[in-house]
Order: sequence, then structure tokens, then C-alpha cells
Amino acid sequence: TGELNQLAKAKGKLYFGTATDNNELSDTAYTAILDDHNMFGQITPANSMKWDATEPSRGTFTFANGDVIANLAKSNGQLLRGHNCVWYNQLPSWVSSGGFNSATLTSIIQTHCSTLVGHYKGQVWDVVNEPFNDDGTWRSDVFYNTLGQSYVSIALQAARTADPNAKLYINEYNIEYAGAKATAMMNLVKSLKSSGVPLDGIGLQCHFIVGDVPTGLQSILQQFVALGVEVAITELDIRMTLPATNALLQQQEKDYQTVISACAAVEGCVGVTVWDFTDKYSWVPNTFSGQGEACPWDANLQKKPAYSGIVAGWGA
Ligand code: G3I
Repeated sequence: TGELNQLAKAKGKLYFGTATDNNELSDTAYTAILDDHNMFGQITPANSMKWDATEPSRGTFTFANGDVIANLAKSNGQLLRGHNCVWYNQLPSWVSSGGFNSATLTSIIQTHCSTLVGHYKGQVWDVVNEPFNDDGTWRSDVFYNTLGQSYVSIALQAARTADPNAKLYINEYNIEYAGAKATAMMNLVKSLKSSGVPLDGIGLQCHFIVGDVPTGLQSILQQFVALGVEVAITELDIRMTLPATNALLQQQEKDYQTVISACAAVEGCVGVTVWDFTDKYSWVPNTFSGQGEACPWDANLQKKPAYSGIVAGWGA
């Protein structure tokens, strides 16, 4: 059968991957799994390339932690996904506190995006992360409030100029099912494409709940691809209300299979990334009280039924 990245590639995908974080890399039982390029062909840094980590004060760039992840990917023979250039969250206060006029903020965005994308050349980048509210309106943040939606094209253009070979994405959650937010993203893709703004892909995060995976996922992926972009599942996890039961773990296995098979079935879906592979390091319990066990490996680094769901989703 093979391991998860091998199975994804056998299905014509570019990779199966995982998020990871610098503080996890001293865990040798963890890295023994992470470093296997047959299991993970791609890694995303969960925090170390974000704005607060990379430009803590204006014009001062720190790539130490990001470079650790980039070098790890390189030595493991794994692709790297840069995450991310422009996001309302994890901003240093010199950015989030605002007070810039539009010319100044434009230049700040251009410098930030071009420096990141230029430092890590030849990669895929989440250039813009989470621009919309769930009702499909624009998120009110320093970027939108100063520049309107033009901040998106400013960021994408700066990224393209810094590296003509980078793949440029907008990444978002709750666009995995039909509704106002998915429609807003589709309209944004159309408008960027028709005005010649560089955009290669849309990332669908896919932070799901056991028993509640959107049935229309494959159709949504197809609809984005029909607009002339590729798609990727960028942050998959499927959480449950604890305690886990056999029934929940079995439903989770089915749910992972549903998501993977949706990507498998859509030619323009290039790969799937889980938002870390083990419950030991999942972000979920810190954010959703009483929920967890969202990953395909448990907190003891043992494969869960969800792992078999991923294998089955790739048709193996
Ligand atoms: O670095 C500090 C450390 O100095 C401090 O001692 C510690 C105490 O709380 O916090 C550390 O920062 C934490 C950071 O992760 C690094 O571990 C933050 O509190 C914590 O909020 C932050 O969480 C990250 C979260 O984004 C922030 O929104 C998660 O690790 C990360 O997995 C998560 O990733 C996001 C994606 O970027 C975008 N999509 C959603 C996804 C899940 O929320």
C-alpha cells in the first residue's frame, strides 16, 4: 500500500503534508514520523513564518525559526508551504495598531511580502490568509480598513515580483461548503483573475467537526478549479467533543476518508495538509474547550482509525 505521501502521489497529487512547529522538533519520537518523506511530502510552519515572528519591528526581519523549518523540509526532501504573508492575527502591534495612511501601509505590505517570498524562493505561499467574515463581508482589520480590498492585490503583486516562480494562494476557512463566504471567495477569484492580478490557488483550511464534514466539498473544490485556480486542502483536522468513544473514532475515520476522496476526485486539487498529524500538538484543545483528538495520530504518536480513513480516501 505505502505511506500517505506515496498514496497521494500515486493518485496524481503533488503531496500529502503536515503542519509542524519549532518547539516540536526536539521530540525525537515525533520527528521520526515527521521526517519520513514517504509519509509527508510537504510541511507548513504553524507559526514561525507569521508576521509577528518574521518582522517584529518595522524593517527588521528575523528568519531564524522559519529557516529551521525550511532547512528541515529541504533535508527531508519535502515541499514547503509558506504561511503566511498578510493576516489579521499574530500581527506585531506596530502593524495592528495602525495609524498608517494608505501609501505607507501599501509600502509596509509590499516590503513584508516581498521579503518573505524572496527569502524563501520557489515555494508555495499563503499570501493572504482569512480575508472574509463568515457572512462573506470583508474582515475589518488594519489592512481592509486602510486600503479596502486592494490590499489583496498589493500583497499578491509584491509576492509575484519577489519570486515569479512562487505559487501564490489565498487561504480561508468555512469556504468548504456553499454559502455567502464561499461565494465571496469565488467572486474575489473572478475579479482578481479578470484584472490580471497574479493568483495561483485557493487554500481550503478544512477545520472540521466529526459527523459534520460538508457533503458538498468535492463540488466546491470543482467550482474553484473551474475559475482557473488550483486548490489545496491546507489545514485539515476533524475534532470531536471529548471523551473520544469508539463510535466517534469510527465516524472520524469515515470523515477523513470523505475529505481525502474529495481531493482525490478533483484534478485541480494538488494536495492535502493536516494541521499537525498528532493530537499531542494539535491547536484544537487550546481553542475549543472540551474538544480535541482531531488528528490522525493520537497523543502517544499511535495511528488512529482516522489514518485508515486517509489511506482509504486515496483509494488504497
Ligand atoms: O510564542 C508564545 C510563547 O512565547 C508563550 O509563552 C505561549 C504562551 O501562551 O504562547 C506562544 O504563542 C502561541 C503560538 O501559537 C505559538 O505556540 C500563541 O499563544 C497561540 O495563540 C498560537 O496559536 C496558533 C494559532 O494559529 C494562532 O491563531 C497555533 O499554534 C496555530 O496552529 C494556529 O494556526 C492557524 C493558522 O495559522 C490559520 N488557520 C487557523 C489555524 C488554527 O487556529
